[in-house]
Amino acid sequence: MSVLVTGGTGYIGSHTVVKLLEAGEEVVIVDNLSNSKEDVVDKIEKITGKRAKFIKGDILDRELLDKIFAENDIDSVIHFAGLKAVGESVSVPLKYYENNISGTVVLLEAMKEAGVKRMVFSSSATVYGDASEAPFREDAPLKTTNPYGTTKLFIERILEDLYVSDNEWSVSLLRYFNPIGAHASGLIGEDPNDIPNNLLPYIGKVAVGELEKLNVFGNDYDTIDGTGVRDYIHVEDLAEGHLLALDYVREHRECLPINLGTGNGYSVLQVVASYEKATGKPIPYEIVGRRPGDIATCYADASRAKELLGFEAKYDIDTMTKDGYNFVVKAKGL
Ligand code: NAD
Ligand code: WQD
Repeated sequence: MSVLVTGGTGYIGSHTVVKLLEAGEEVVIVDNLSNSKEDVVDKIEKITGKRAKFIKGDILDRELLDKIFAENDIDSVIHFAGLKAVGESVSVPLKYYENNISGTVVLLEAMKEAGVKRMVFSSSATVYGDASEAPFREDAPLKTTNPYGTTKLFIERILEDLYVSDNEWSVSLLRYFNPIGAHASGLIGEDPNDIPNNLLPYIGKVAVGELEKLNVFGNDYDTIDGTGVRDYIHVEDLAEGHLLALDYVREHRECLPINLGTGNGYSVLQVVASYEKATGKPIPYEIVGRRPGDIATCYADASRAKELLGFEAKYDIDTMTKDGYNFVVKAKGL
């Protein structure tokens, strides 16, 4: 039996593939490399001593998917493939709807045809938007604030409808909070080519001198120090959560949203302080205006993941920033 991992050479996918291989699973990756590199497959092999089968291709390519299901004994799919840049999704919404939503529908059709009805899906805390206040429980009202978030919300609905139509489906809708950090080897991690939008990749580039300073978006929120608070979760914890969710969909027939967060929030300045501890150097920053669309505080109610999956995040913020910095340094060959 194999697990098909869409987007498996990406940031979260690659860390999950490592854990799957370490757990003795056979893995088939399909990724179009639009936001990752093929050498990740070698790096995964270097870490685990095992090789995942890699197929370069697009989830919109139905023929390819049919071939993958015909040629491999796949019992479950972990579906990471998607575009994730919030700002870009506002400029080119159709690209996001086509890739994320149409791509998922094509994948689900191929799965249905092949009789594979188990999926672990990468949703996001972005589906909570600004409709209620932290801590976010899975039954909180949902409201998205950008096309990227809307793709996640629509896909959740599509999967729920599919389950209602056929209770043989089993789906985990994993709502990730803010994944950061990297594998302790420093071989895989998140290293965007463009100027990053997200806090940690941005701080990483400041730490190695590629960017001059961090812009802190607002210090007038109602938080511990006025800067935005988020639930940062180590990507290694997140990857572990996928293995537990895979066990869960193999043992149950349900379609349920499950938060993957730590349940704790850290402010931008607390993250900066932790990063400074990791590097032993100051991170230059400037307080600028709020970023449109940001909320003050976002963190998970993590109780459902604990109850249903037995999941609890293990890593603290200092380990997250240390491992993130270690990856940035190694990736730059410093
Ligand atoms: P990533 O960009 O590193 O990984 C996504 C992978 O999917 C990339 O390797 C990309 O090449 C591939 N891909 C994209 N479209 C594809 C397609 N049509 N066919 C085949 N491959 C395709 O992103 P990530 O951070 O690893 O995120 C993984 C998933 O988790 C995404 O769905 C993302 O929306 C979701 N998510 C991410 C975060 C986050 O902050 N990183 C938070 C919540 C949810
Ligand atoms: C974190 C905090 C910023 C950059 C995004 C997506 C969300 C999910 C996770 C996919 C905020 C502040 C940031 C900077 C800053 N992804 N910040 N200066 O916005 O919580 O969530 O990634 O599903 O959908 O929206 O993450 O890392 O961008 O911001 O001060 O240069 O850091 O204002 O308080 P966010 P982020």
